[in-house]
Amino acid sequence: MIQLFPSTDDKRADSSTADPNTSPGSGAVDQHDEATGVMLRVARESREPGPHRPWVYTNMIVAADGATTVDGLSGELGGDGDRMMFRALRAQADIILVGAGTARAEGYRPPQRYEVAQEFRLDRGQRARPRLALVTRSLDLDAGLAIFEDDAPETRPLIISSQRSWTERGGDLSERAEPIVAGDEDVDLGDALGQLKQRGFDRVLCEGGPSLNGRLVAADLIDEWNLTIAPLLAGGESTRAAVGPMPGGPPPGMRLDRVWLREEYLFCRWIRRDRSRPGESTTSD
Ligand SMILES: NC(=O)c1ccc[n+]([C@@H]2O[C@H](COP(=O)([O-])OP(=O)(O)OC[C@H]3O[C@@H](n4cnc5c(N)ncnc54)[C@H](OP(=O)(O)O)[C@@H]3O)[C@@H](O)[C@H]2O)c1
Repeated sequence: MIQLFPSTDDKRADSSTADPNTSPGSGAVDQHDEATGVMLRVARESREPGPHRPWVYTNMIVAADGATTVDGLSGELGGDGDRMMFRALRAQADIILVGAGTARAEGYRPPQRYEVAQEFRLDRGQRARPRLALVTRSLDLDAGLAIFEDDAPETRPLIISSQRSWTERGGDLSERAEPIVAGDEDVDLGDALGQLKQRGFDRVLCEGGPSLNGRLVAADLIDEWNLTIAPLLAGGESTRAAVGPMPGGPPPGMRLDRVWLREEYLFCRWIRRDRSRPGESTTSD
């Protein structure tokens, strides 16, 4: 990975910032060492929760024309660097939050443990691996979905839905997942995030899809926006990375934090502007 922004004398984002004990400081970097370097660099980035809700960060990939899928899935957009970033961001999360549409389309499974990140996780008091949390209005989740493969009480998925949905359609889902009741008629994402914080989850990585992202943007709940831009034009009918109705008023301002480049893929990170100005609040509330 080459760091384009902020500009630096040594532009290798992976080797210049990686732990010298685990990756070479200069010269050719093989893919394993490069992935380790990216993971360590991302692990050192600041993601401080507020007192009442976690730090919420996203990760999405788009084609250069803004498309989020090719033939209905994001896989065709990705590459080696994208997989490195995907894992590095996951390795920092307490919760991986997804909309039910993405979990169904992309065949989500229980998240894995990332050895390189374990020291950072232990230092911060995080559990060994992230947990999955699904947002759904319908609660229409087939028992055979791979997300239910892990049914241990401390690692099974959390399912976020409204009081009304749980009452009318909850069925035996609460035996396979940990229910979160947020909102009466519709899901209240702010309430859901507050409940995740109360359960000790301080870092929530939202992996989409666009509808869930749009709801989070509309509720002004995103602290960090990570976007990978792939060097291809996908066309098609897919949506932008965040879609849905917005309330009035100015859209949330974001500050560009970094841009990395690898094999013509751009890896961008923006931070919520009102958190990052000197002297202003750094809380999430
Ligand atoms: N390029 C990328 O990085 C990327 C990343 C993720 C996904 N994708 C693609 O995006 C597509 C899926 O995106 P999508 O926008 O259709 O789906 P989505 O946002 O993943 O999920 C939409 C579904 O999630 C639930 N949901 C979302 N927000 C909710 C809210 N505020 N309250 C209640 N329920 C809520 C609803 O589930 P119920 O239907 O169960 O009520 C809704 O139908 C897939 O094709 C996937 O491959 C691309």
